[in-house]
Amino acid sequence: MEKPFLSFLLLLFSPTLISSLPYYYPTTKNILNPIDSCWRADPNWSNHRQNLANCAVGFGASAMGGKYGPIYIVTDSSDDPINPKPGTLRYAAIQDNPLWIIFSRSMSIRLRNELIMNSYKTIDGRGASVSIGGGGPCITIQNVNHIIVHGIVLHGCARGSSGNVRSSPEHVGHRIGSHGDGVNIWHSTDVWIDHCSMSECYDGLVDVTHGSTRVTKRVEGNWKNWKWRSTKDVFLNGAYFVPSGWGSCSPGYSAQQQFYVAPGTMVPSLTSNAGVLNCLTGKACVY
Ligand SMILES: *[C@@H]1O[C@H](CO)[C@@H](O)[C@H](O)[C@H]1NC(C)=O
Repeated sequence: MEKPFLSFLLLLFSPTLISSLPYYYPTTKNILNPIDSCWRADPNWSNHRQNLANCAVGFGASAMGGKYGPIYIVTDSSDDPINPKPGTLRYAAIQDNPLWIIFSRSMSIRLRNELIMNSYKTIDGRGASVSIGGGGPCITIQNVNHIIVHGIVLHGCARGSSGNVRSSPEHVGHRIGSHGDGVNIWHSTDVWIDHCSMSECYDGLVDVTHGSTRVTKRVEGNWKNWKWRSTKDVFLNGAYFVPSGWGSCSPGYSAQQQFYVAPGTMVPSLTSNAGVLNCLTGKACVY
């Protein structure tokens, strides 16, 4: 069980924004954040699934997933780590070409060993109820890039066993057994994990290690000499913030990179739809 040297994944909240994205989208009950409002307000979202790849904000923003590839429909929840059958999640995930992977129906997938992703893949559970785990190993993102995982339940992820696992159509490798993380990201870039519900995994839920880039970590050090400011935050239950450093903290963002920062009081509303969403085909996914 390797200890992650990064325990904090910040894919979504960096202050860059594609200027064409809609901003906060008010619905009857909630206000959608800029990432969600980019696709959830579209009643035809299920025919425009690959638009999701335009929606991320922040360090994972350039993750393409399978944006320029065909849609691949998973119809079979079974698993074979060495010779995956067409129609299974593993068959799709290991292919060399970009694929946007969706599911024909709701299903629980209990993998027989870790799922080793190949580059340029999206696993898109929207419109179905898809869970991975259930006492089997889960997802390994290792030495690859451009991965999106959206709308998947990862629950009860267990350690993998030592043995052979296929990582591409050409390559089967011997594995020592994965750690039991929900998603293990190792030496990979441009990864976006969004609206997944993750719980009760043997190791971490998301473990990011070994030079994975476009991930943020909080650094230890002499922070009192650094410039720290708080803007529009709300402090509850005795929480407080100590500003430090002198002078202006204004970051040098271009006009295109700027967007309205919602006040901290909106956090409950903006995060109330975290986790897997219950989207219906043919309807805007707003509730
Ligand atoms: C939904 O999108 C598809 C693909 O863009 C389009 O062919 C279809 O007409 C759209 N349906 C509606 C109701 O807008």
